[in-house]
Amino acid sequence: MTLPSKVRIVEVGPRDGLQNEKKPVSTAIKVELIRRLGAAGLRSIEATSFVSPKWVPQMADNAEVFATIEKLPDVAYPVLTPNMKGFEAALAAGAREVAVFGAASESFSQKNINCSIAESLDRFRPIVEAAKAAEVKVRGYVSCVLGCPYEGEIMPLAVADVAKALIEMGCYEVSLGDTIGAGTPERTKDMIEAVARRIPLKKIAGHFHDTFGMATANIYASLQMGIGIFDSSIAGLGGCPYAAGASGNVATEDVVWLLQGLGIDTGIDLDALVDTGAWISKQLKRETASRVARAILARRAQAVAAAE
Ligand code: HMG
Ligand code: MG
Repeated sequence: MTLPSKVRIVEVGPRDGLQNEKKPVSTAIKVELIRRLGAAGLRSIEATSFVSPKWVPQMADNAEVFATIEKLPDVAYPVLTPNMKGFEAALAAGAREVAVFGAASESFSQKNINCSIAESLDRFRPIVEAAKAAEVKVRGYVSCVLGCPYEGEIMPLAVADVAKALIEMGCYEVSLGDTIGAGTPERTKDMIEAVARRIPLKKIAGHFHDTFGMATANIYASLQMGIGIFDSSIAGLGGCPYAAGASGNVATEDVVWLLQGLGIDTGIDLDALVDTGAWISKQLKRETASRVARAILARRAQAVAAAE
């Protein structure tokens, strides 16, 4: 079994993480977080979402965030766009990459974007066409790939159908979201196998939430299946406003540690990442959810104490 020699990480903390914060996070903090993530070596940073502020007030400053962030030349700053209105706003703000987000569960689709799966795909097609005309890249998401908060178990074939539709309409890759973190490694493999029968493996990304602490195990299982793209969130920020009980995404620090241990190149500076995670956790007045960051910070504190 050969694991990929390189992995691309898509940092989703500023969007998937901060969309779930109970207290408002200032635009300045969001902008500084994105700057620090870029400086730590992340090459794809999901910056915000152009969704309805009535549905997700935390992202209401989308245009301001996007206009203010420093855009490094070799970094992509994708934004979420659920419909044409969101896409047009993202384009006006200067976005060069957007993401449409569907689900493998009908109930979740209704709760999250207020339409059926088929309606969502019909909404996404004109977005992808308009994006193509504007030379904007489009990523696709499928939520609830390993379980739904409303329907329970989700069939791998249901995931494969939506993933295939997204690739066929022109998404350059599809991120498979374990929205509620219900997956375990063997089920993850079965789901990926079903999707990989329909779309090329290199177009599949894994997006694991860590509700049950299985995210890094699921990432390892995905690596064994040949997946080389993973979404993660600094300090394990996040959850999902439409998936009760869902904890944050797998922490970026934990993923980078896992990959380093496997000798897989990510181009990311783990120490700078740990600093960034500590910084945002301090801003949010909470402890980091990253086990790796906690261990590294404890080691650092011990080394400082020993030197005194
Ligand atoms: P709707 O209410 O059906 O929309 O919401 P509508 O078209 O009927 O419009 C209603 C009002 O919303 C109108 O305003 C529109 O202008 C406005 P009014 O006339 O009442 O004043 N509106 C908008 N405003 C700003 N930006 C827009 C927009 N669209 C309409 N883009 C809609 C449908 C899709 C808009 C809504 O359901 C929505 O915004 N949902 C987003 C929910 C969301 O962001 N969820 C979290 C992200 S997904 C996720 O986290 C999962 C993921 O991480 C993967 C995983 O973990 O599985 C990606
Ligand atoms: Mg998510």
